[in-house]
Amino acid sequence: MKLTIDNIQIDVEPGTTILQAARKIGGKIVPPAMCWYSSLEGSGGKCRTCLVKVIKGSEKDPRPMAKLVPSCSTMVQDGMEVLNITSPEVMQARKAVVEFLLINHPLDCPICDQAGECDLQNLSYAHGLAETRYEEDRRTFEMIDIGDKIKLHMTRCILCYRCVYVADQLTPGRVHGVLNRSDASEIGTYISNVIDNEFSGNMIDVCPVGALTDKTFRFKSRVWFTNPFDAHRHCEKCKGEAVVWMAGKEILRVTGRKNAYGEVENFICNECRFEKKSVTDWVIEKPRKIQHSSVISQNHYENLAGNG
Ligand code: SF4
Ligand code: SF4
Ligand code: FES
Repeated sequence: MKLTIDNIQIDVEPGTTILQAARKIGGKIVPPAMCWYSSLEGSGGKCRTCLVKVIKGSEKDPRPMAKLVPSCSTMVQDGMEVLNITSPEVMQARKAVVEFLLINHPLDCPICDQAGECDLQNLSYAHGLAETRYEEDRRTFEMIDIGDKIKLHMTRCILCYRCVYVADQLTPGRVHGVLNRSDASEIGTYISNVIDNEFSGNMIDVCPVGALTDKTFRFKSRVWFTNPFDAHRHCEKCKGEAVVWMAGKEILRVTGRKNAYGEVENFICNECRFEKKSVTDWVIEKPRKIQHSSVISQNHYENLAGNG
């Protein structure tokens, strides 16, 4: 079926969402997504950053859709016409969503481990206001340990639910979820019940902000001072394919391999992530391709390949 996004036409399979179709086209017309995650079933529909305008519903029923729709959960219809960056209304709505996401979000970037690879930081840079209009008290929380390897900064959480899907889909005996509703919502673990099963560390990778951080890496370095390399090892629990983030000959952290949209397709186990921090544990393959727009690419570390 045919679809047009920002005047670019594409053919897609039935059952494709507008966001997936936009990703097939690629480039600037792809809406940002803070909650949808390709490898987590049921994700999406929470953050509203991916809103787009449908000016023609389909060939059969050409009426426009009355409101902006989330592109991550709206299916393509044959003949549909969609506007993203060419619609001032969408751009205005995206600004409003960013302002809303930042209502309770602290200005932690200078000390936040996610800085330099944070979807919210990028989104705020592109659409945020220089100042806040919010006058009420912000929500405050104590920091929580989720097991001995993960730290939760609930103040930074945007309630995208991705970590809940990780807990639900990758780990047995889920003890983690969103407690309460509305502005009282928070990520809870039935009171810091230790989440110590083999795939819980993936919550850190799927978190679009710095709410869930790796305690083995916290405050060790800024991400743009580290050099990411694709690496693999023999592992019984996962595929053993990861990215090792190095400073000199030291591995500071291990993460899953993310695609162009920051999503991990092959989740890694906690042993690979938290316990294999020696270069002898890994076969280093090659420097990771980092998007030119990322601050991490400023390092020009590619020449170090093979020295790690
Ligand atoms: S989560 Fe992102 S936007 Fe928030 S403080 Fe950390 S780097 Fe900044
Ligand atoms: S902790 Fe992170 S992954 Fe979990 S809901 Fe909050 S923002 Fe999303
Ligand atoms: S990515 Fe579509 S609502 Fe969050």
